[in-house]
Amino acid sequence: MKKVLVVYWSGTGNTETMAKQVVKGAEDAGAEVTLKTVSEAAADMVREAAAIAFGCPAMGAEVLEEGEMEPFIAGLSRAELGGKPLGLFGSYDWGDGQWMRDWADRMKALEAAVDGEGLITQLIPSAEVLEQCHELGKRLAG
Ligand SMILES: Cc1cc2nc3c(=O)[nH]c(=O)nc-3n(C[C@H](O)[C@H](O)[C@H](O)COP(=O)(O)O)c2cc1C
Repeated sequence: MKKVLVVYWSGTGNTETMAKQVVKGAEDAGAEVTLKTVSEAAADMVREAAAIAFGCPAMGAEVLEEGEMEPFIAGLSRAELGGKPLGLFGSYDWGDGQWMRDWADRMKALEAAVDGEGLITQLIPSAEVLEQCHELGKRLAG
C-alpha cells in the first residue's frame, strides 16, 4: 500500500477542510494515509512517505505561516523531497496566489515533483474545490 503523508497548518479551518478531502481521495484510491498538523510533523516522516501533500494558507504578506509552517518547510531538503509527488494546497483571501507560486518554486528547486501549480481557493473551499482536493489525493495515491 502506498504511503501518503498530508501535513497542514490552518488558522480558521479553510485549509484544514481541504486537507481532509485530500486524505479522503488518497484513502479512496487505496493509499495508507497519515494526516498531521505541522506541529506534529517531522522531516523523517516526509522522507518515509512515497507521496506528500502540504497545505498552508497565504499569511503575513504572501508568505507561509511563519511560526510553524515556514520553519518546517525551510528544514526540508532534496533528501526528503527529491523526485517525490508533492501536492500543495491552501486558502487565501485578498492576494493573487503569489505565496503559492513562491512555495511551488521552492519545492521544485528541491526536485519535488509538484502537482500542477498548487491548488488554491479564496476563503472557504467550494464543493468544486473540494472535489479537486479529492482528485489530488487520488493522483498522489496512484
Ligand atoms: C495574519 C493573516 C495574514 C494573511 N495574509 C494574507 C496574504 O498575504 N494574502 C492573502 O491572499 N490572504 C491573506 N490572509 C487571508 C487568509 O489566507 C485566508 O483568511 C485563509 O482563508 C485562511 O485559511 P485558514 O482558514 O486555513 O487559516 C491572511 C490572513 C491572516 C489572518
